[in-house]
Amino acid sequence: MFDKKVQGAMNDQIQRELESAYIYLSMAAYFEGLNLPGFAQWMKVQYREEEAHAFKFYDYVNDRGGRVMLQAIGQPPTEFESPLEVFEKALAHEKKITGHINDLYALAVQQNDYPSQVFLQWFVEEQVEEEKTAGDIVTLLSRIGDNEHALIMVDREVGQRQPPAGAGAE
Ligand SMILES: [Fe+2]
Ligand SMILES: [Fe+2]
Repeated sequence: MFDKKVQGAMNDQIQRELESAYIYLSMAAYFEGLNLPGFAQWMKVQYREEEAHAFKFYDYVNDRGGRVMLQAIGQPPTEFESPLEVFEKALAHEKKITGHINDLYALAVQQNDYPSQVFLQWFVEEQVEEEKTAGDIVTLLSRIGDNEHALIMVDREVGQRQPPAGAGAE
């Protein structure tokens, strides 16, 4: 029997993952406007990753005999001060998501829902990675400051990022 509280919290998390995807796509669009195709590519890959996260929850809720119920997604931010501000916002956003994943894990423990605890472990680890990746780029962009040449170099570097395996295959 799939716990109703866990099911509700997972439906909330599907909304957050899709909202994250939408925020990153908006950040990609901002970078397209700045003519920084590498950063735009990085954000488009991030968009796909968040979509994949939403699908993990979607499949899991269904596998447990639950019911997915999609919720409204808010307007994402469209304007930013600088590439640095974009990544600072991305990092702050990931920290917020980490809090929600931890709360979800705590709920699964409280409800003695062992399969959900195992399922959520992947997300606990993923959030460590998400914060590290965004944090590393914040550090890099803080260091280069107003150096246009360095920004172009970093743009080329981050543009090497590849979409997650299997994304878009279906
Ligand atoms: Fe995510
Ligand atoms: Fe994320």
